[in-house]
Amino acid sequence: MISGEGTNLQALINAQKERKISTQIMAVITDNKDAYGIKRAKKNNIPTFFFDQRNFDTKDEFYLNIVREIRKLNPDLIVLAGFMKILNKEFINAFPYKILNIHPSILPKFKGLNTHKRALESGVKYHGATVHFVEEDLDSGPIIMQYKIAVNKNDDEETLKNRVHKGEYLILVETIKLFIMKDLKIDNNSIIIDGVPLHNPILYEESI
Ligand code: GRF
Repeated sequence: MISGEGTNLQALINAQKERKISTQIMAVITDNKDAYGIKRAKKNNIPTFFFDQRNFDTKDEFYLNIVREIRKLNPDLIVLAGFMKILNKEFINAFPYKILNIHPSILPKFKGLNTHKRALESGVKYHGATVHFVEEDLDSGPIIMQYKIAVNKNDDEETLKNRVHKGEYLILVETIKLFIMKDLKIDNNSIIIDGVPLHNPILYEESI
């Protein structure tokens, strides 16, 4: 599910093409008909679905229709790859622990928008990205992987965004690989991989 550029989607398409992950991207769903990611999907013959919230009386109805479409597709995994709307409770409960989100910060720091700007303003030493299972609260849920970069004194929003993006592509693909190859479960709010609890998120760091 995307709303914009779709560079994370492109990373998944590339990884699939290069057989790094044995996936089949069944569909790309968007709430924005102008999302560039839609072009990327079409170019790769991936079916696309556009849902315009303005066509529905309520947000719940909007999500109900997306849920119906996804149920027909019956995917193993739903990836929020830059889907900029907050899911409703019913959507999340319809697909328990099947929804992954990629977020451009080291959660729980900087939930929400403008993470690179906020990271710079707050003067943190490290920034990065997180892949987690989606729960009801915004940008929360069990964390699987994180990517960490050091914030340099000459970094600006653009350089941070570019460096974090590279990490997003890496940990998104690696998480999906893990999901395919291992038994990835949640128990008592923690991640269990092949029966072993993951005490800390799997961490990748930028290589300099
Ligand atoms: C990414 O930074 C992702 O972490 C966030 O939205 C952005 C989407 O970028 N949730 P793109 O559309 O994949 O280029």
